Amino acid sequence: MRGSFAISYTSYPVPHTSHQIINMTHKKHIAVFASGNGSNFEAIAGACAEKRLNAEVALLVCDNPDAHVIKRVEKFNIPVFKFRPKDYATKADYETEIVQLLKKNNVDLICLAGYMRLVSDVLLNEYEGKIINIHPSLLPAFKGLNAIEQAFEYGVKITGVTTHFVDKTMDGGKIIEQVAVPIENCSLEELKERIHAVEHELYVRTIRKLL
Ligand code: GRF
Repeated sequence: MRGSFAISYTSYPVPHTSHQIINMTHKKHIAVFASGNGSNFEAIAGACAEKRLNAEVALLVCDNPDAHVIKRVEKFNIPVFKFRPKDYATKADYETEIVQLLKKNNVDLICLAGYMRLVSDVLLNEYEGKIINIHPSLLPAFKGLNAIEQAFEYGVKITGVTTHFVDKTMDGGKIIEQVAVPIENCSLEELKERIHAVEHELYVRTIRKLL
């Protein structure tokens, strides 16, 4: 199965530039927002640490203090704002606090990476056009939760990964880049592995393009 993955994947490559080391002095500041596992957070933080991105993750925002991403961030010297939405009266209240932290850390770009919340006007008014998301399907197909399962169960032959700007809608906003991933002779678990591998390269590539 791994063999077929390799063949399929080389048909839909993420260009090699994602491995180039950038040699520039001014580092841009990224904030990553995550709610769960954090593999995309780690891909971005790792790319910064290895200088494949001329940037640093200046802040991790996490709305679930028990999430695995909190374990991952310990490997890096990155400040974390972890909070529980239920401790705030409204979304505007916690987003106001987040905006203050983003400004304090001179954040240039916000990367949602498995952040399981819609953003409101409080964030969008300050950072519209500077908030991006990654989604494990070829949007606009299969929005929302469990997009990989949705595509697999629907029986599509090609799915993929999308990076897009964030607006008020779920998985809406203008598309930045897409990479197709074929679904051939694979289990759901194998498809998830393919998709996540593509995500980790594509997100770094998109961030480089925007910065
Ligand atoms: C990824 O599949 C991403 O595309 C989606 O949420 C998932 C987050 O995974 N938005 P991880 O927490 O980065 O491992």
